[in-house]
Amino acid sequence: MSSGIESVLTETRVFGPFERVAATAHISGMDAYRALYDEADRDPEGFWARQARENLIWDKPFTTVLDESNKPFYRWFPDGELNVSANCLDRHLGTPVADKTAIIFEADDGEVTRITYRELHARVCQLANAIKSLGYQTGDRAIIYLPMSIEAVVAMQACARLGITHSVVFGGFSSKSLHERCVDVGATLVITADEQRRGGRAIPLKRAVDEALSQPGGEAVRHVIVYRRTGGAVDWNEGRDLWLHDVLEGQSNECAPVPVNAEHPLFILYTSGSTGKPKGVQHSSAGYLLMCLLTMKWTFDIKNDDIFWCTADVGWVTGHSYIVYGPLAAGATQIMFEGVPTYPTPARFWEMIQRHQCTIFYTAPTAIRSLIKAAESNEEHHPRKFDLTSLRIIGSVGEPINPEAWMWYFTNVGRERCPVLDTWWQTETGVHMITPLPGATPLKPGSCTLPLPGIDAAVVDESGREVEPGRGGFLVVKRPWPAMIRTIWGDPERFKKSYFPPEHNGYYLAGDGAQRDTDGYFWIMGRIDDVLNVSGHRLGTMEVESAMVAHPLVAEAAVVGRPDATTGEAVVAFVVLKRPLPQGDEANEIARELRDWVGREIGPIAKPREIRFGENLPKTRSGKIMRRLLRLVAQDQPITQDVSTLENPAILTQLSQSY
Ligand code: WT7
Repeated sequence: MSSGIESVLTETRVFGPFERVAATAHISGMDAYRALYDEADRDPEGFWARQARENLIWDKPFTTVLDESNKPFYRWFPDGELNVSANCLDRHLGTPVADKTAIIFEADDGEVTRITYRELHARVCQLANAIKSLGYQTGDRAIIYLPMSIEAVVAMQACARLGITHSVVFGGFSSKSLHERCVDVGATLVITADEQRRGGRAIPLKRAVDEALSQPGGEAVRHVIVYRRTGGAVDWNEGRDLWLHDVLEGQSNECAPVPVNAEHPLFILYTSGSTGKPKGVQHSSAGYLLMCLLTMKWTFDIKNDDIFWCTADVGWVTGHSYIVYGPLAAGATQIMFEGVPTYPTPARFWEMIQRHQCTIFYTAPTAIRSLIKAAESNEEHHPRKFDLTSLRIIGSVGEPINPEAWMWYFTNVGRERCPVLDTWWQTETGVHMITPLPGATPLKPGSCTLPLPGIDAAVVDESGREVEPGRGGFLVVKRPWPAMIRTIWGDPERFKKSYFPPEHNGYYLAGDGAQRDTDGYFWIMGRIDDVLNVSGHRLGTMEVESAMVAHPLVAEAAVVGRPDATTGEAVVAFVVLKRPLPQGDEANEIARELRDWVGREIGPIAKPREIRFGENLPKTRSGKIMRRLLRLVAQDQPITQDVSTLENPAILTQLSQSY
């Protein structure tokens, strides 16, 4: 659990309402919120049907709203047909939005490129035509391994236009992770770049694709389309590899969008669970897009003249919902950034907000916490030094934001005029679930406040009964919602087991601990499973453990999270080697080697912050590793509880020592 918990439980401050935002908000005032919430509560199907008719353009209107015949495999608008790309682009062409800027792209080096909706539509059509001419069609799967770029948006939208299911792999994942995902999803097409540019450095992407595809199963990929980003040298597999600029050559600006069933899988996005194997979270077309658009209006209160900026990478669900699909469906102008918040200086975000007159800014607590540190150590990088008056709404996502960071963000970035939206959601939920509405909800620092209309969230005990205010429990969603996960790709049993365990009455189990206060506000307490949250990135402890034991020197490994002031949690690994306990330099050397190994196996984000060696791990007599104790050891906390059930209590002393 996160470091902010103690302060969260004593937090009593309330901020807002924010009249300036409320005056023109889509949902203005708590009465309006309650009216909408009650409408959805009384007649969920009627409510979602109305929203789906008013907000989406259908090729074939639906007649059924929700098919519950095969719970928990819910199907929304199951006999309707539409195209997601047409709903993001074509819908704007006959309107004044057509010539509005869709994306203001700022590169790592500061170069700015703008693209209008009409131009974006043409680019997407050209790429869709190129993909089609290579023989791909509806139902195929494509892996997208691209840097933050207009090309990434174009690639995802082009897939959506043809009904090709995309699976975006974050550029920070290793070739091994990429290979796993390619094979699991059954990809026949990969779209990548020569290299990506971040923080002044070029990082190869094509090389990782080559490595991934040289492994068993990789030959199923018939083509690799390569975007030339840096011009860095790449190996070339003649016949398989194609330059993006070559395949686009001569392609028409028009490509008819392919109508697909509402339930057609728009994308599969891998995320960590409590086993070693990442889960391919499958999302639908209609229900997902509907809620992307609705949350743009409800949560971000998006308006025609807003300049929206979500700093997430398109490799995460946040980038899918709030860069590629939501903002475009809403016809918004958005900023997209290639680089990192600290390059060339930790003032980059504040400079960019000022330069582009950003009005809605959405980032992660981990970024905020690192920028607090930077601002406090150098006045030049303090947000107060910049003109941030364009901002009207600021948001946070990905992990709990502790009240201290919340207050700093509210005071120094929002200047106490902008509501802070602490949005709780997950890869599986598709979109925001519990979040303040900027023109309605009074804010409490550290709370994600109240569920959106149509979202029946609750906190329950082990047997699925709702707990009283002030008591902790499991966060659940009692009724299905249109943007929810449909299944785990290729593993429907795991889907049922992970999210709809029998003891929870058929409720969706989020995997987070939470409690509500007497105002009904939700306070998220962190994951209840073996999933860590490191800098807003989800990591399975088992995933890191399996990577470690794959190393020839490692006999056994246990991984736990330790609260960290900047990254939320840090990975600490306890390792038993196949050789005698290492000391001094040798221990340092092996620790470095193992850290790099994990970086290659999974990606740099999974590298353990600390590795401790022991001759064994604390286990019960039945052989179960006592992670609860290891978590205490990792924090250098005294172990006060009874350890008599341990097979080998003395091991705790050994593991408490750093080498
Ligand atoms: C997990 C989901 C949400 C998209 C990006 C992350 C944690 C997320 C919050 C928040 C407290 C949060 C939860 C959740 N989380 N947002 N506002 N307050 N915790 O998506 O990788 O699927 O991770 O992130 O633990 O279960 P994800």
